[in-house]
Amino acid sequence: MAFLADALSRVKPSATIAVSQKARDLKAKGRDVIGLGAGEPDFDTPDNVKQAAIDAINRGETKYTPVAGIPQLREAIAAKFKRENGLDYTAAQTIVGTGGKQILFNAFMATLNPGDEVVIPAPYWVSYPEMVAICGGRPVSISTSQENNFKLTAAELESAITPKTKWFVFNSPSNPTGAAYSHDELKALTDVLLKHPHVWILTDDMYEHLTFGDFKFVTPVEVEPKLYDRTLTMNGVSKAYAMTGWRIGYAAGPIELIKAMDMIQGQQTSGASSIAQWAAVEALNGPQDFVAKNKAIFEGRRDLVVSMLNQANGIVCPKPEGAFYVYPSCAGLIGKTAPSGKIIETDEDFVTELLETEGVAVVHGSAFGLGPNFRISYATSEELLEEACTRIQRFCAACR
Ligand SMILES: Cc1ncc(COP(=O)(O)O)c(C=O)c1O
Repeated sequence: MAFLADALSRVKPSATIAVSQKARDLKAKGRDVIGLGAGEPDFDTPDNVKQAAIDAINRGETKYTPVAGIPQLREAIAAKFKRENGLDYTAAQTIVGTGGKQILFNAFMATLNPGDEVVIPAPYWVSYPEMVAICGGRPVSISTSQENNFKLTAAELESAITPKTKWFVFNSPSNPTGAAYSHDELKALTDVLLKHPHVWILTDDMYEHLTFGDFKFVTPVEVEPKLYDRTLTMNGVSKAYAMTGWRIGYAAGPIELIKAMDMIQGQQTSGASSIAQWAAVEALNGPQDFVAKNKAIFEGRRDLVVSMLNQANGIVCPKPEGAFYVYPSCAGLIGKTAPSGKIIETDEDFVTELLETEGVAVVHGSAFGLGPNFRISYATSEELLEEACTRIQRFCAACR
């Protein structure tokens, strides 16, 4: 009898965590490494949010909470959906989890039966297919194209849907590409979904607040209210409020689904951290100027990185609308010889050679299901980004 579960054989370790570890190992050996692998803002959590947590501790809010979250946070979530997205949800239709990750995992756990298919546009956030596989479902990856700025077209979505499709996973702005769908681009997809009433929509709006210029964020139910009864709208405080370590994510959707997720969470972690929940109440209800300020900083960094990467030989970098990632193609370097003498055959070779030659850590695109590309997280200072891009330019120029 095997000791480890069969489910484990269906799961790959996280490539983004592996890159960060490799960068840390090189740093420990004394190498000068710039890590552009991690997906978290470099800013500190706002002071008013920290203070709300301290106040919660001092008030003794340190006990178990209801599984789906404290009423004050569920009310704040319902109010957020109304205020920012024009969506009507009662507090009972919301649920709070230990990070957006737990929300997604529990949604799949609560709904997937063996053989159920989950359509995931590629490139995708590394955890979607792995979560689906752990929960016994079948991830169905569907490639987008760089020419269409990595956005799924109606025809591509249509071609991926079968009678076994249970969920369509939608993520805008996207990790790893930063691509965000306009109202019309999303409407083209919701029109397809209207034709397939058996398909549920899981929209991951984690990067909602990070869009640039006059781009207007939209979420599926806002664009097509007829999808309300089969959409789970997920979001969280991790990226918008620089709260990755607090581990608070949330969602709203049909009550039967929320109840099923509540039941799973009740046998798993129960309620999220009481202190972090009170901090999240302040993040959602308190002043929002932090969000606008950081958005402007991210926009400046995006412009810098896109411009510098497009000046590197063999690199083509689209300009994304949001998040804090770019997803350049390194197709022009494939087949060339790196300064070490090794031939670059894949995007994984490219990132390995780049790390070893120039000490810049990025993640290969094939880990996100579409290459030859690589992902840069620009959630770091302009100074470091400029140095990293200069090194990338030097590396590319040195490839023959
Ligand atoms: C697209 C996307 N969804 C969800 C998450 C998970 O967020 P959390 O840290 O709240 O679990 C991440 C984190 O990287 C993400 O990039």
